[in-house]
Amino acid sequence: MTDLTTKLQETTAYLKNAGIGPVDFGLILGSGLGELAEEIENPVKVAYEGIPHFPVSTVVGHAGQLVYGNLAGKKVLAMQGRFHYYEGYSMEKVTYPVRVMKALEAHSVIVTNACGGVNESFAPGDLMLINDQINFMGANPLIGPNEADLGPRFPDMSQAYTPIYRKTAQKVGTELGLALKEGVYMGFSGPTYETPAEIRFARIIGADAVGMSTVPEVIVAAHGGMKVLGISCITNLAAGMQASLNHEEVVATTERVKSQFKTFVKATLAVL
Ligand code: HPA
Repeated sequence: MTDLTTKLQETTAYLKNAGIGPVDFGLILGSGLGELAEEIENPVKVAYEGIPHFPVSTVVGHAGQLVYGNLAGKKVLAMQGRFHYYEGYSMEKVTYPVRVMKALEAHSVIVTNACGGVNESFAPGDLMLINDQINFMGANPLIGPNEADLGPRFPDMSQAYTPIYRKTAQKVGTELGLALKEGVYMGFSGPTYETPAEIRFARIIGADAVGMSTVPEVIVAAHGGMKVLGISCITNLAAGMQASLNHEEVVATTERVKSQFKTFVKATLAVL
């Protein structure tokens, strides 16, 4: 048995013992968006600290726990706070929770994030469905020996963001009267925000939004054959498009749109 498979068995044994049962949807909640987990019914909460092989999140605004239970009629396992490459974790550590979700039978993952808008038609507070991604993080979580039990050596990324999920989410957005955006998410390593020149480059190569997460998790989800819905909250205009950037604005924008975000995710989850 491989190292990773052994670790996964130890982690899932611990989580099952803590009361976590089979999962339909994994939910990765980005900066400022973790409150959705508070709406999970009959929640089982497990702090990251203590979960075998789990890293511990360091970013302010990330609670750092798994929450398991029912949401919109689905069995979900939510990550309240995620792990970022810029925190110093290996790509394997960053994506480990997605492996765990898969090992707990999740067929799908909903990945959310706060990000900067590159597309000039976007405004802070917009929600964007991710239709594709650009990996500009300088690393790939699948580098290294491939574990055939977990997925293929050369995974197809042609439809990493499941088209039918996006279509369903668009329909729900329309029903709720949301002006949903759609576009390409480009992942940078961070922790610096991008420079204005990097943002001009990002726009030229086809990015609509930039951020420091999501890309590795979606690569691992695709490797494991999981379906993916990606939702970005545009918290600010990207570098060079507004005077300066800061984390406080990111938090303030997620604060402003979080009730809309929660309503949208729940309504979508109900019909996926
Ligand atoms: N760039 C990168 N990550 C971000 C941004 C941004 O402008 N806003 C929120 N997360």
